[in-house]
Amino acid sequence: MKSVAILGSTGTIGRNTLDVIRRHPGEFRVAALAAGANSRLLAEQVREFRPRIVSLDRPEDAASFRRGIGIRGLKVLAGLEGAVEIGGGPESTVVVSAITGIAGLRPTLAAVRAGKIVALANKESMVVAGSLLRKAAAASGAVIVPVDSEHSGVFQCLTGGNRPHVKKVILTASGGPFFKTPLREFRTKSVAEALAHPRWRMGRKVTVDSATLMNKGLELIEARALFDLEPGELGILIHPQSIVHALVELCDGSILAQLSPTDMRFPIQYALTYPGRRESGLPPLDLAAAGPLEFHEVELRRYPLLALALRALKEGGSLPVALNAANEVAVEAFLSGRIGFLGITDVLHAALDRHIRASVLDLDDIFDIDRRTRERTARIIQRKE
Ligand SMILES: NC(=O)c1ccc[n+]([C@@H]2O[C@H](COP(=O)([O-])OP(=O)(O)OC[C@H]3O[C@@H](n4cnc5c(N)ncnc54)[C@H](OP(=O)(O)O)[C@@H]3O)[C@@H](O)[C@H]2O)c1
Repeated sequence: MKSVAILGSTGTIGRNTLDVIRRHPGEFRVAALAAGANSRLLAEQVREFRPRIVSLDRPEDAASFRRGIGIRGLKVLAGLEGAVEIGGGPESTVVVSAITGIAGLRPTLAAVRAGKIVALANKESMVVAGSLLRKAAAASGAVIVPVDSEHSGVFQCLTGGNRPHVKKVILTASGGPFFKTPLREFRTKSVAEALAHPRWRMGRKVTVDSATLMNKGLELIEARALFDLEPGELGILIHPQSIVHALVELCDGSILAQLSPTDMRFPIQYALTYPGRRESGLPPLDLAAAGPLEFHEVELRRYPLLALALRALKEGGSLPVALNAANEVAVEAFLSGRIGFLGITDVLHAALDRHIRASVLDLDDIFDIDRRTRERTARIIQRKE
């Protein structure tokens, strides 16, 4: 039996992971769960899956959870330290990294340093600390198996010795809710409209990133780090049906594609069973019923944040860290109604125009750039209010 720890168990990826585990009794044991603030859902998960360790972000939530849960022997931890202990602790051999944002970096790094199989959904970690995570994995023997559907698709296409023959890796993008929206209407787009993704049910931050296509930009930076590719070896195609997740072009002109239904339980299950495979019990893809599959070039003028992310992909260094930090702050401001949809773009441009390139050698550098960019972005938002 594989013992699994989930960082972000109460989120969309966390809940889907538990559903995959529920469907495979006898294959997986839930060893530990880390949540943010949703103690009610965490309590339900604890009663069903009986982990030995859990954590909540705030110490006061952890204290009242400990008093209320009434399960003897359950260790209840708190804060970043709790999540790091769950990521790196000896109870699990597989860690699903599904906390949103840079908050997931230290717990993910702990799992990588402990040599585990790390099922990585938290793309922001790879964006800001890709080379650090890869070095740590090489030193510890950890295997990072991507959960993002596009990267899982690439990963699956690259099994079987294809890596040396890769010419280009293409990630697909649904285009988000505004793929066909006239540009003049972008200014008035509401939070509810940005959250109405046509294909995927996801957490709020990643859904807004999908509407601006920043998500695809972050994914390109993630792919560069995960698969050791040059920016010129990466591309994107808009594919509104979200059935083909990735395309890998080989030197002889063959293109391998990975297809699966639009359901995150497929890539999650692949990461959990890696290097093996199991029946999923989920409805299979019916290509005849799916209808035509379309592919379109990306119109960059519709997605200025993607253009910004492409710059960060090429420049590397501290720019991806600053891009991620400014984006996290701006998206949060949009979700809380402080700026409009196009305000996200304005704020990011202003924040990154003032970014001074710095070298990124270690975790301290990353958190320093992250903190300074967040402060600058918060000031820019304040001035706009
Ligand atoms: N959803 C998808 O289909 C999808 C696909 C590909 C990649 N991803 C990536 O996977 C990650 C998670 O996405 P999601 O859609 O699952 O997001 P989500 O639904 O918003 O869930 C985020 C999870 O992180 C927890 N969390 C947030 N801050 C925390 C903190 N400081 N300490 C501990 N836990 C914390 C939340 O806890 P509470 O809810 O308890 O506060 C929740 O469990 C993101 O990086 C996203 O880009 C998601």
